[in-house]
Amino acid sequence: MNQPFLDDIALSLEEAWRLLIDGSQNRKSPLHTPAVATVRDDGQPSQRIMVLREAVREDRMLRFNTDHRASKVADIGNKGMVSILGYHPEAKVQLRLSGRGHIEQDSPACDAAWNDATLYGKRCYLAAPAPGSAVNLPTSGLDPDIEGRKPEGFEVAPARENFAILLVEIERIEWLYLAHTGHRRAMFDWDSGNNSWNGHWLVP
Ligand SMILES: Cc1cc2nc3c(=O)[nH]c(=O)nc-3n(C[C@H](O)[C@H](O)[C@H](O)COP(=O)(O)O)c2cc1C
Repeated sequence: MNQPFLDDIALSLEEAWRLLIDGSQNRKSPLHTPAVATVRDDGQPSQRIMVLREAVREDRMLRFNTDHRASKVADIGNKGMVSILGYHPEAKVQLRLSGRGHIEQDSPACDAAWNDATLYGKRCYLAAPAPGSAVNLPTSGLDPDIEGRKPEGFEVAPARENFAILLVEIERIEWLYLAHTGHRRAMFDWDSGNNSWNGHWLVP
């Protein structure tokens, strides 16, 4: 049976946001772990998997957590472009999003994200030296004493200074729906003048 959004561009956009919001809340959704791409200083594209923590449709905002010392943070700098890609095989939807990235380290939103993180999650941000540093021996970057057990709150507290959030303000959503009756592809661009999404169909 055809999906109601098949030939309805407004419903396709609805479905895109529904899948993103579900992806942020549902650990089993494949959209919980999209690929997030940035561009390095030398122009090289760079992708990595990140956990989608929050999707707020009204703000066109996606949130990810990260280590402030990570290379993606330097790539994004001040409002650098970010591309986000996910595929939901059950929904048969590919979403390719892009927008400006914004890193926050000392903000109420970052405090809330930190408070929301589990002790194990917080522990990752204790890594020393910084993530991406070259080392001579294989290592998690954690003190062996804290490695094999659940840490206490006071032990992970110093990791807060390495913790940051990446907020991406989505400006473009590319939708691809696979159907054996014929695929559908659409592009949605944010029109800041009219405060609305401008959508049009593309040949898949
Ligand atoms: C399933 C999975 C989830 C991940 N989630 C995150 C995440 O939420 N935030 C993050 O910074 N890195 C996450 N990573 C690690 C990144 O993919 C990447 O290896 C790391 O952040 C370093 O990236 P960078 O040097 O490009 O900044 C995750 C990796 C996997 C495989």
